[in-house]
Amino acid sequence: MIEEAKGIVEGLTPLRPEVGVVLGSGLGAFADELAERVDIPYVQIPGWPVSTAVGHAGKLAIGKLGELTVAAMAGRAHLYEGYTPAQVVFGTRVLGALGVRSMVYTNAAGGINLRLERGGLVLIADHINLQGVNPLVGPNDDALGPRFPDMSDAYSHAYRQIAKLVAAELFIPITEGVYAAMLGPSYETPAEIRYLRAIGADVVGMSTVLEAIAANHLGMKVLGISCVTNMAAGILPQKIHHEEVLEAGVMVRDTLVRFLKALLPRLEA
Ligand code: HPA
Repeated sequence: MIEEAKGIVEGLTPLRPEVGVVLGSGLGAFADELAERVDIPYVQIPGWPVSTAVGHAGKLAIGKLGELTVAAMAGRAHLYEGYTPAQVVFGTRVLGALGVRSMVYTNAAGGINLRLERGGLVLIADHINLQGVNPLVGPNDDALGPRFPDMSDAYSHAYRQIAKLVAAELFIPITEGVYAAMLGPSYETPAEIRYLRAIGADVVGMSTVLEAIAANHLGMKVLGISCVTNMAAGILPQKIHHEEVLEAGVMVRDTLVRFLKALLPRLEA
């Protein structure tokens, strides 16, 4: 299935991507910045899960950012939509087959650390997988990667150093933190947020970790960027609405586009 998808994509553009970006809820604007771009709706790619989440466009954009060729996924599949772990990581594996060696995952996340603010950006330093599944369960394809992949530098330290440097150059405030992944789709309870804070999480979301596991399995280098779209449950005396999550995505959209444009060409494979 991955080889078939790869073949279809290769038939639609002569460009061969080096870096992949996944754009989370309300964060799809970056895809439109690519030059010589080919937009491939997910429905045209065999096996590619079509996202049902509001704020997810559902296309693979391949184009140029200066000299660099980038594949941008606007929209991703989530477990809470009913997709299997294999479907959730399908895009990552197709990009890997196309030759991508570096992946940047963006997502919307709730802020658990009280020092965070809505609209802030967080570099993912590490993750805690609380989704109860792993995309590598089942027979291992030794051609793709090892049975027991190391995850001690899952979010490349070198890439985080580059990202901090680029953010400083652009005067974009950014912190580092641990991302906890929940299954969703319900938001967490206040007790769950206290638990997540106690185990060392700074932000919480419903994506990214399975993709990051699959990317590490393939030997790719990974960078993760969370956009704090809301403070997590129980921190503020108000309910969490999906609309506020999307609104915050719009608030940081321009900043994130500026950041990614400067950052991607600096990520060496
Ligand atoms: N919890 C889980 N996922 C999220 C949140 C949240 O508060 N905000 C955006 N994605």
